[in-house]
Amino acid sequence: MATVTLNDVRKVYPGGVEAVKSVSIAIPDKALCVLVGPSGCGKSTLLRMIAGLESITAGTVSIDDRVVNAIGPTERDIAMVFQNYALYPHMKVYDNMAYGLRNRGTPKDEIDRRVRETAEKLELTPLLERRPRELSGGQRQRVAMGRAIVRNPKVFLFDEPLSNLDAKLRGQMRIEIKSLQRSLGVTSVYVTHDQLEAMTLADLLVVMNAGRVEQVGDPLDIYEKPASTFVASFIGAPPMNLLPVTRGEGGGFSFADGSAVDAAEGHKDAATFGFRPEDADVAFDEDVPSGALTLAAEVEAVEPVGADSFLYCAAAGSQIVVRVAGRAKARPGDQLRVIVRPEKLHWFDGSGKRTD
Ligand SMILES: Nc1ncnc2c1ncn2[C@@H]1O[C@H](COP(=O)(O)OP(=O)(O)OP(=O)(O)O)[C@@H](O)[C@H]1O
Ligand SMILES: [Mg+2]
Repeated sequence: MATVTLNDVRKVYPGGVEAVKSVSIAIPDKALCVLVGPSGCGKSTLLRMIAGLESITAGTVSIDDRVVNAIGPTERDIAMVFQNYALYPHMKVYDNMAYGLRNRGTPKDEIDRRVRETAEKLELTPLLERRPRELSGGQRQRVAMGRAIVRNPKVFLFDEPLSNLDAKLRGQMRIEIKSLQRSLGVTSVYVTHDQLEAMTLADLLVVMNAGRVEQVGDPLDIYEKPASTFVASFIGAPPMNLLPVTRGEGGGFSFADGSAVDAAEGHKDAATFGFRPEDADVAFDEDVPSGALTLAAEVEAVEPVGADSFLYCAAAGSQIVVRVAGRAKARPGDQLRVIVRPEKLHWFDGSGKRTD
């Protein structure tokens, strides 16, 4: 069992770049924690500090109740899986998996037992005699996982392990990693910039932005109640529609193009309101339900993706996207009304923070 606790962790690189600016996260035992955020937000830096590959400028990293800041990577009992697999090209799969155990002086028969057991779990048994270049991308990734698992570490760390794979294989490997992590019950930290991967894998999702944590929680809670406009636009694809609003004299709100926001009770400090593409309905001539927010919109593009279609529209001086089921009836140039029920609206203040 292992918990991983970050307490006010900070990283300033020698050149002066402040890559991580005070991050606190408590990762429970057996959890799969995903760090997600745009390129350069400090994900890998944070992971490398947990691994012991990078020094910690301030704050503490603890595994269970032990502060590990001053403990070397090999003594932390952690295994890391990288994007580029880092397999030894001249070694067979078997030897790649056995390498770490041999280095630790594990007895030969125990190495053999553990490698074969792990290979069985990962369906690598028929491939043990091959070299990495004789494997597909997915198989190589599985060997990299096997090499981590075979050591039976306290914690797994993954840094974008699937980013070299094509979309279909990524999807498959995602499911494999999730079920493997569940069945092994090893506390894991997984870094990705792919929000879908993050949503589907995480028990605990950490959204990062510019060296800070924007929000931590259950992935669906974050999706349903993003704490900021940053999170609202980063989690979900297409992202949440965000429309700037201003508060008038009478207390009502108006959009960027001057049109009034009707039938939506705003929050006092609201500067932006948002709604998810799937939370809007479109109407051509029909009556609009009373109490709902309506926007006059012109369709600019229609993107059919099979089960749904995305309508890209100009509305209230902004571009918005609406998701409709099946084939869209609308065509570019059509005028329609976009209807959002008030309970589906998200309100944010001038600094981008959620106001409810
Ligand atoms: N060794 C280093 N020396 C100086 N600055 C660094 C070093 N490594 C990373 N940085 C800087 O620290 C910041 C965070 O980098 P980091 O690699 O942690 O980002 P990331 O979130 O993993 O990004 P990506 O999604 O592109 O992998 C970036 O501004 C980066 O340029
Ligand atoms: Mg990185």
